[in-house]
Amino acid sequence: MLLNLIKKSKYIVVYTGAGMSTESGLPDFRSTKSGLWEQEDPTAVASTDALNRNVELFFEFYRKRVVGVKDCSPHKGHDILAKWEREGIIQGIITQNVDGFHSVAGSDNVMELHGTLQEVHCQSCGQVYGNEMYESETFYCACGGKLRPSVVLFGEGLQEDIFMKAIDASERADLFIVLGSSLTVTPANQFPLLAKEQGAKLVIVNLEPTSFDHYADLVIHNQKIGEVLAELNHQLTSK
Ligand code: APR
Repeated sequence: MLLNLIKKSKYIVVYTGAGMSTESGLPDFRSTKSGLWEQEDPTAVASTDALNRNVELFFEFYRKRVVGVKDCSPHKGHDILAKWEREGIIQGIITQNVDGFHSVAGSDNVMELHGTLQEVHCQSCGQVYGNEMYESETFYCACGGKLRPSVVLFGEGLQEDIFMKAIDASERADLFIVLGSSLTVTPANQFPLLAKEQGAKLVIVNLEPTSFDHYADLVIHNQKIGEVLAELNHQLTSK
């Protein structure tokens, strides 16, 4: 079924969440027991409030995540998506993930809705640094300002230009494939709906059910993304 949808579609957009990176060794946020928000309160560690009022907790939380990203790497699923873009099978990736793994794997048209952990910037002067500053526990800029990861914190809006690019891609899609997201965070979770409303087929690949399953034309639960993509890649390339 998904193979046929891919074969007959002209503009395919893939939309990924944290479930895309668990097979790289990074935890997601809401999986029962292992999700990050099962152990931490996001507003206490990942919000503008935390940055301004709880900065030691904020630094500690994000340093752990930067080290995690540096210790892990893209898996075969990321590589397959990059290959499919090169082959013209998919046209772009909208991701909520901040690990940068789609770009590291070679994908080019990647819309990072929630920013990236690959760099940090000064809250006061805006100077951008590599994320190794957090690895070495350097949390302040030469100007004295706080360094923060270039991610979208709870309480912040998405970057306008990326948001508009994601809207354009969602409106152009005739097939929109969600990989590994609970689709619980707005406005990121609006893009699958926008694509669907514009006439795209919507496919959701997610271990657990999501609240958007009833909008989907096809839902694949209980199967890992890496396996789904490997199977599809085998069928697409074995002519
Ligand atoms: N294969 C398929 N699905 C998976 C896999 C896998 N290998 N691993 C995990 N999943 C599924 C889980 O069942 C879960 O429903 O991926 C989903 C991930 O959902 P969340 O943890 O909620 O992550 P996400 O949807 O990306 O969260 C959105 O919330 O906290 C914010 O900014 C953060 O970008 C994040 C946003």
